[in-house]
Amino acid sequence: MEKKKQQLTSYIEYLQTPVSREGTGAEKYELRKRLFGREDVLPMWVADMDLPVAPFIQEAIQRRAQNPIYGYTLATNKTYQAVVNWHADKGLICQPNQIEFTHNVANAFHMAVLAFTAPGDAILIQPPVYPPFFKAPLINNRQCIESPLKLIDNRYEIDFDDFEKKISDNNVKLFLFCNPQNPSGRVWLKKELQQLAEICIKYNVIIISDEIHSSLTNPCHTFVPLASLSQAVSNITVTLDSPGKVFNLGGLQIGYAIIQNEELIKRYRQIKKSVSVEELNLFAINALEAAYMDPKRFLWVSAIQTVIQQNIDYLTEFISDHFPEIIIMKPEASYLVWLNLNHLFSTHKKMNEWLVNEAQLGLNDGLSFSGESKLGEYCVRMNIAVPKRTMIQACKQMERARKKIT
Ligand SMILES: Cc1ncc(COP(=O)(O)O)c(C=O)c1O
Repeated sequence: MEKKKQQLTSYIEYLQTPVSREGTGAEKYELRKRLFGREDVLPMWVADMDLPVAPFIQEAIQRRAQNPIYGYTLATNKTYQAVVNWHADKGLICQPNQIEFTHNVANAFHMAVLAFTAPGDAILIQPPVYPPFFKAPLINNRQCIESPLKLIDNRYEIDFDDFEKKISDNNVKLFLFCNPQNPSGRVWLKKELQQLAEICIKYNVIIISDEIHSSLTNPCHTFVPLASLSQAVSNITVTLDSPGKVFNLGGLQIGYAIIQNEELIKRYRQIKKSVSVEELNLFAINALEAAYMDPKRFLWVSAIQTVIQQNIDYLTEFISDHFPEIIIMKPEASYLVWLNLNHLFSTHKKMNEWLVNEAQLGLNDGLSFSGESKLGEYCVRMNIAVPKRTMIQACKQMERARKKIT
């Protein structure tokens, strides 16, 4: 017990040591000029962490890198078993032959759109939501039907009447579901999942349940894998996940779909073949196996969660002391914080100008998550997976810029 505590403390200290991403081509930094018009904003937007990877993952990659042949490489039984065991721990029982690896999760839901719908078909999403959920249907000439979430007591809720009506009115074929939700970090309750799945079963809607943020569920909340509800639900569900968010492996490009319905997996495999998604990045395979199997994996995740929670607490206190007008939605999972600045600015333009030019922060604009609903017009998404020092810096910049609000 004492040893575990020491290890946890040492992981937390390790995570708090800033690591420069200078010269690594990091998207979060390199795209600042293009997205925000200046290079000096503190980048707290795209969802990767400014925190080092677990030492046991780095060691696994280094070990493999020692062998100087980096040829085509297959996932092995060990890789599949690593995924099976990881999901069993999360409450989803699946078999190795129900797993289809992809290059990343976005890649997987784009292929799901092609596999399970035809051009012109309707696909439902629930804004405010991860922007590529709008893009995957539209770029593939499908209709994107929006059933916006309802904001009740600063928490997003599903409007089940609207959800059912949109499905039946538009003959929806596929539902792109974010579970837990991005940008709000909402963890859906079992009874909500049940209600939503019943509607989908009633109207023959296939559900793509994107569970990429689930392994970072705050211990005060319970994540329920959608496909774990019942056989009837797993039969219409395609679960997407990856070690990308929880272990910060976005640059390695790996993801997978778990598909328990034989007919659906056949259709999915056909599309995978048609776009030739076959072998994986060899380092991604090593990283996934280490991430999902190392004996210290849960301790590492606890350390990450501690760092995230400390930043959320710091930001919450800062906002309550210095910006009481800002409404903060604390995530129940993951490291993205949804902030509503509606009471501070009279226009969206003024808000963005202040954030970029006065507070010098590079955040995600809420409008990009909003679609027709414009629900997030005065919201921003802040990525707080950073060392404490960076979190403090971001708050200082906001505080200094306070008097420049017009
Ligand atoms: C809900 C959700 N799905 C998918 C992704 C992208 O994952 P990947 O890099 O594996 O495509 C993200 C990244 O932010 C996300 O938030």
